[in-house]
Amino acid sequence: MDFIGANILSVSQFERADIDRIFTVADSMGPFARREKVTRVLEGAILGNMFLEPSTRTRLSFGAAFNLLGGMVRETVGITASAMAKGESLYDTARVLSGYSDIICMRHPQAGSVAEFAAASRVPVVNGGDGDNEHPTQALLDLYTIRKELAGKGRTLDDFRIAMIGDLKHGRTVHSLCKLLCLFDKVQLTFISPPELAMPEAVVEQLRAAGHQVTVTDQLEESIGHVDIVYSTRIQEERFASQEEANLYRGRFRLNREIFTRHCEPNTVIMHPLPRDSRAEANELDTDLNEHPSLAIFRQTDNGLLVRMALFAMLLGVEGDVDKYSRPVRWHSRRSPI
Ligand code: NCD
Repeated sequence: MDFIGANILSVSQFERADIDRIFTVADSMGPFARREKVTRVLEGAILGNMFLEPSTRTRLSFGAAFNLLGGMVRETVGITASAMAKGESLYDTARVLSGYSDIICMRHPQAGSVAEFAAASRVPVVNGGDGDNEHPTQALLDLYTIRKELAGKGRTLDDFRIAMIGDLKHGRTVHSLCKLLCLFDKVQLTFISPPELAMPEAVVEQLRAAGHQVTVTDQLEESIGHVDIVYSTRIQEERFASQEEANLYRGRFRLNREIFTRHCEPNTVIMHPLPRDSRAEANELDTDLNEHPSLAIFRQTDNGLLVRMALFAMLLGVEGDVDKYSRPVRWHSRRSPI
């Protein structure tokens, strides 16, 4: 695809060569993310961050990635803080905000809303999550992480096994990741969820049509024994009709050190898009795994910066110039390397 000026709305717009290009550019962003060098390549550019649903890492890492390339960030957080609370349409908001920005990242509670917004925008729009539909940049950083973790074991994206656990019905990160995996070969997927929260049939069909082996189950312990990756997810309580209904499922599939040690192969990689629900009744990924070398959740968040920097550079057509406008940093803020 032609990245310059494009919107990033769905992973379906990527071909495999596009993924390879994004990952190559992401690899080159390491010195900037590690604060060894700074670049001014996006000096003067403005990112409009429009987050109409709660977010910590997606919003902050989009912003930090843009800052790391030398650009500035303007934010609107929460529908109540925007004129949408006064009934303003997506169309009008897009026309206005795109006059103030060079690129826009948007999160919105409704599926399809970011595409509607993008159709009216005069600058590229990146989908930071639209309802239960898609979260393309999370899928890219997840796939980038999987690739890196597998490389450490001499494996590749073309032959690996992954178990996805939790609310697979509403989880936009797993929807996007599965669609992206259709670009690769010989992936074995195990979907572990309560039957009511199963992966949408259309996604399962797409994976099977791509030649992948898919197993659907509601049994955790017996299904995580022979996988390279376990990808845990939160019950997406904000997508349920009532809190009571969401509560039925919280804490149903918990992964802790004891279960991991007893059932998983020792070097199985543990992933989660975060946030993990740390409340006692949920706790789908226990803190007793925090120091476990297989826990990749904070490697995922660090990788998110690299992938989002790569996308910004490519969408704004500067990926070849990042180093040209760089210099070493003067300060020392890191207690440990990332
Ligand atoms: C996810 C999201 O918002 O879809 N988080 C993220 O962006 N890293 C997952 C979640 O909220 O559970």
